[in-house]
Amino acid sequence: MKLLHATLFVLPAVFLTGIAMTNSVDGEMGSQFLGSAEDNSKQLIEQGRQIFRFDTYGDEAFWTDQLQIQQAVKSLTPRTALALGLKVDAGALSPSIVEAIKHGNVNLNDPAVTLQLIKQNAVLGVVGTFNNNSLSKVGFTCALCHSTVDNSVAPGIGKRIDGLANRDLNVGAIVASAPNLQPVVNLLRLAPQDAGVTAQDVRNVLNAWGPGKFDAELFLDGKAANPQQVTNGVLTGTNVSGATLLPNARGLSGHNLHTWTGGWGSVTYWNAFVAVNELHGIGTFFDERFDDAAQFPIAAAAKLGHVSVNPDSDRVTGKLAALHFYQLALPAVHPRSGIDFDPVAASRGDELFSGKANCNSCHHEPLWTEPGWNQHTADELKIDSFEADRAPGHAYQTMNLAGLFVRERGLFMFPQNKGRFYHDGRFPTLLDVVISYDSRFNLGLTDEEKHDLVEYLKSL
Ligand code: HEC
Ligand code: HEC
Repeated sequence: MKLLHATLFVLPAVFLTGIAMTNSVDGEMGSQFLGSAEDNSKQLIEQGRQIFRFDTYGDEAFWTDQLQIQQAVKSLTPRTALALGLKVDAGALSPSIVEAIKHGNVNLNDPAVTLQLIKQNAVLGVVGTFNNNSLSKVGFTCALCHSTVDNSVAPGIGKRIDGLANRDLNVGAIVASAPNLQPVVNLLRLAPQDAGVTAQDVRNVLNAWGPGKFDAELFLDGKAANPQQVTNGVLTGTNVSGATLLPNARGLSGHNLHTWTGGWGSVTYWNAFVAVNELHGIGTFFDERFDDAAQFPIAAAAKLGHVSVNPDSDRVTGKLAALHFYQLALPAVHPRSGIDFDPVAASRGDELFSGKANCNSCHHEPLWTEPGWNQHTADELKIDSFEADRAPGHAYQTMNLAGLFVRERGLFMFPQNKGRFYHDGRFPTLLDVVISYDSRFNLGLTDEEKHDLVEYLKSL
C-alpha cells in the first residue's frame, strides 16, 4: 500500500517535469503551435466567403462541356438576365458604370453588356472564363441561389447580400436554356417511370419550377411532380411541381438537421452533396443511403452516393471546412421594430406562440427549431408526404423562423415573388400559415390573435 502511494506520488512529478520542458518549447513556438480561435475564425470566414461567392468547384465540366450553357449566356441580354432573376453586384462595378446604369445609359438589350458584367464578376453566382474577349466557359457557385442584392442601384442591381435566398431566380428557365440537355435526359432515364423521357419533357419540367425554386431531389428519384398536394385532408393541388423554395443560408447555426425535409444531415453534409451532385463540381461525396433503389432509383443506378476522385483533383473536400464555418457565421436578418413589425401586437403574439398556439413545442425559442432531432412526419403536420418521402428521414424539418419578415414583406425581391411559405410555397402569406395551423391543430384562435401571431413571426 505504502509502495503504491509512493509510486503514485512519484509519477506525477515526472509527468510535471515533462510538461515543464514542453512548456518552454511551446513558449518559443508562440501561438502557432495551438493556433488561436480568433485568427482561425477570421481566416475561415474570409476563405468561406470567397468560396461561397466565386468557387465553381470545376463544375464548368458539366455546365459548359456537357450542357453547353455558355452558348445561351452569349446571347443573354441584361434585360433578360434581370428578368430571369439574375442579380448584379454594384460593388464589383466602377463608379462610372454604376452612374451610367442609374441614368439609363447602359444598353440593356446588348448581350455584350451581360458578358462585360460577368467578366467583372458582377453577376451573382455566375463565373465566366474568357479567351481574349470571348466567353469560353461558364460555371455556377453557391451564390447563384443563396444570395441577392439590395436593389440600391436599380431593381436587381445593388449591394450583395450573402445567404439570403434569391426568390426571383428562375433556375428552371436558366437550365432549360442550355442547348444540350441530353446528359440530364440520360440521367433521368435511369428512373423506371422516366424511361421514355425526352429533352422537351425535361424542358417542360424545368419551366414549371418558376421563380425562387429548385428541385434538388429530381436527379436522385426522377419525380417531377407531387400528384396530390393535401393540407388538413383537403386536396389543394394536383401535379404540383416537385421543386421547393430556395431557403436562406443564414441563421442556421445551432440547427441539427437541414433542408426542408431534414434527415439528410448537417450543413456540411448538404454542402458536399450540392457541390458534387447538384452543381456537378469535381469532388468526393459518400452516402450509402443513396443505394436504396426503391427510394432513389437514379442515385442508386448512377452511384451518386459513391462519387470519389483522387485527392489531388478534388476541388470540393478541401473547401468544406471554410464553407461550413462561413455559412454558420451568417446571421439571420434582423427586423426593425415599428418598420418591419408592430411591437405591441408582436408582444401579444409572443404569449400566444408559446401559449395557446403551441408553436413553441416545435419552433423552440430562440432557436426556432428543436434542439435535438428537429423533424416531424407528414401525418403529424397533417400535410401530404410527397416531399418528405423523397428524403432519407421521410419527414419535414422544423423550419427556421428567423428572418421570415423579409419574405412576408417582399424585401429584396420582385413584388410578385413575395411571401410563399412551407417547402412548396403552398401558403401565400404568414396569415395563411397561421389560419392553417389554427384549423389543423384546432387552436381556436380569434382573428385578432391570428394577427398578433403574424406580427410576432415578423419580429423574429
Ligand atoms: C440551383 C440553386 C441552388 C444552388 C446553386 C445551391 N443551393 Fe443550396 N439549396 C437550394 C435548395 C432548393 C435547397 C432546399 C433543398 C431541399 O430542401 O430539398 C437548398 C438548401 C441549402 C441549405 C440548407 C438550408 C436550411 O434551411 O437548412 C444549405 C446550407 C445550402 N443549400 C447551401 C448551399 C451551398 C453551400 C451551395 C454551394 C455549394 C448551394 N447551397 C448551392 C438551392 C441551391
Ligand atoms: C409539430 C411541429 C410544429 C408545430 C406545432 C408548428 N410548426 Fe411550424 N413548421 C413545422 C415544420 C416541420 C415546418 C416545415 C413544413 C414544410 O416546409 O412543409 C414548419 C414551417 C413553418 C413556417 C414556414 C417557414 C418557411 O420558411 O416557409 C411557419 C411560418 C411556421 N411553421 C409557423 C408556425 C406557427 C406560427 C406555429 C404555431 C401556430 C407553428 N409553426 C407550429 C413544424 C411545426
